[in-house]
Amino acid sequence: MRCPLVARAFFIILATFATGCAKAPPSFRLNLEGRNPEEISLAQYEAIDLTLTKLFGTPDEPTIPAGVDLDLEWLQAAAGPIASDADGRQRGLFRQHCVACHGISGDGAGPSAAMLTPYPRDFRNGVFKWTSTVAGAKPTRDDLDRTLRRGVPGTAMPSFMRLPDEEIESLIEYVQYLSIRGETELHLIRLVVDEDEYLPLDIDWVMDDGLLPAAESWQRVEQDPGRYLIQPPPEPPADAASIELGHRLYASKDAQCLKCHGPDGRGDGEETEIYDDWNKPKKGVTPEQTKDLAFLYTLPIQKLLARDFREGIFRGGSSPIDLYRRVDVGIPGTPMPAAGPAGGTAGVLTPTDIWHVVHYIRSLANDQ
Ligand code: HEC
Ligand code: HEC
Repeated sequence: MRCPLVARAFFIILATFATGCAKAPPSFRLNLEGRNPEEISLAQYEAIDLTLTKLFGTPDEPTIPAGVDLDLEWLQAAAGPIASDADGRQRGLFRQHCVACHGISGDGAGPSAAMLTPYPRDFRNGVFKWTSTVAGAKPTRDDLDRTLRRGVPGTAMPSFMRLPDEEIESLIEYVQYLSIRGETELHLIRLVVDEDEYLPLDIDWVMDDGLLPAAESWQRVEQDPGRYLIQPPPEPPADAASIELGHRLYASKDAQCLKCHGPDGRGDGEETEIYDDWNKPKKGVTPEQTKDLAFLYTLPIQKLLARDFREGIFRGGSSPIDLYRRVDVGIPGTPMPAAGPAGGTAGVLTPTDIWHVVHYIRSLANDQ
């Protein structure tokens, strides 16, 4: 049916009342973050929606576009309504365990999201924080597996340690699916709305320039770990000398750690205007501008706090290798920069120096 958006919304509300709230199958919500919906024509909206549905199906019936290496059976177990099949296998895992926070579309704006600090991850940007991979690379399956089993300490993201292995695999597959879909969607919106591309869209073009590069970025890290995994040198002993050296490096002007984490690692540095990349555009120059921007976003602006190391709670894991990764490549999606060498440039810390800084940080937590 073709009708204007407002009429359509009215129809949906009416239909919801008529059917007692339950029947309309859930659909993916278009990613309009930061955009005024009135600036998108109905024709553009429908072109994007139709193309995405053709390629990725719906939350109840996901499909995998040609050339994308995802497992349909795993996806089907994670998608759809909560149920168990004839063999007692659980279905609808994403709705059962994740939707309250991450939302049907993986937008990080589920019904509980607004109450949480930090907000749940929006998978559609393809940016993940707690990875073992170099800057700009996707997490490995093992990274997502670790996140799911361990949860993210100090945040609402719970541990799913008790789920059977095959359910974890299904959920990882589904996170990748939502993320590839989300990146394709952003590409489509740029094409159709920002570049005003002629409709109807050429689907091969969408595949080659948007979808396949997003899908390949996930495959690449698995196929070439030598290139994409962070490779630390052997860890020196965490003795008093290493901690002392780590303290000096931490406090050095080049390293900049003090700026955000403060002189004693209490998270009280002078830099306090810190935001996740997806919160930054919500901030105008004046409070009035910030208020004006608010209606373009689903969730209100939220500041990001630099970690207080004395608490000893580390979101990406507290083992030395976890912390090495954080300091080496920085935290993707946040202003915390990489300290280690990258792409032929030296970095502010050598790989061995990073270990000393890690020992210093861990000593602050152990001091408690
Ligand atoms: C109670 C709320 C809640 C539930 C339920 C929840 N999450 Fe999360 N999740 C979060 C929050 C909050 C974060 C952000 C943590 C951060 O920024 O460090 C997050 C982050 C993540 C990340 C990103 C990790 C990274 O490296 O950036 C993944 C992946 C994830 N969740 C997957 C899932 C999956 C899959 C499920 C269901 C099995 C799930 N979550 C259930 C709240 C939740
Ligand atoms: C521009 C500000 C900034 C600078 C500079 C900075 N950090 Fe951070 N750091 C942050 C923020 C913000 C977080 C929290 C990020 C999050 O949870 O999403 C953080 C988190 C951390 C964490 C915790 C990781 C975890 O798993 O919870 C460690 C460790 C850390 N920083 C070490 C350092 C070191 C060492 C330096 C200097 C080489 C440094 N940071 C420089 C802002 C900064």
